[in-house]
Amino acid sequence: MEYNESEFLIETIVPKNELIISRTDLKGVITYVNDTFAQISGYEEEELIGNPHNIVRHPDMPKKIFRQMWEKLQNKQKWEGVIKNLRKDHGFYWVHAIISGVYKDNHLVEYKSIRTPITYETKLKYQKLYDQYRNIDKENIRRVVYS
Ligand SMILES: Cc1cc2nc3c(=O)[nH]c(=O)nc-3n(C[C@H](O)[C@H](O)[C@H](O)COP(=O)(O)O)c2cc1C
Repeated sequence: MEYNESEFLIETIVPKNELIISRTDLKGVITYVNDTFAQISGYEEEELIGNPHNIVRHPDMPKKIFRQMWEKLQNKQKWEGVIKNLRKDHGFYWVHAIISGVYKDNHLVEYKSIRTPITYETKLKYQKLYDQYRNIDKENIRRVVYS
């Protein structure tokens, strides 16, 4: 797909009165999205279901955030945090997400996520924080290679 650098700068504002919902299987493959998820991410529902949830992973998101998320989920805890997501057209949208297990007869069968908007100030704070984390990630890689 062809795109311009400037496409990455376009933010989609998440509406206040709607929830962005998705579910995945235990490996993180999308099994359900609501209409708002499809609309905000710029994908059709059919393009999302059956694909790994990292289809909306933004390059600004540090790896360690998702490592912590999966660690919590695997320990049967819920994860809560701020995510910058990538749209199909390479634009982005910020959300607060709560991710937790879906249980059937006491067995973990899926994961679900409910996302809501965050304030402009929170977006600025997390953009700075994640920029720092990504730089730390890079430093670590360099250390492993040259030490
Ligand atoms: C229910 C659920 C919802 C998720 N929602 C997102 C999301 O909105 N954005 C995102 O980048 N990753 C989300 N993830 C994490 C992805 O599965 C994936 O771990 C992440 O995008 C990083 O990609 P990677 O694991 O391939 O490095 C979600 C995972 C689960 C289980």
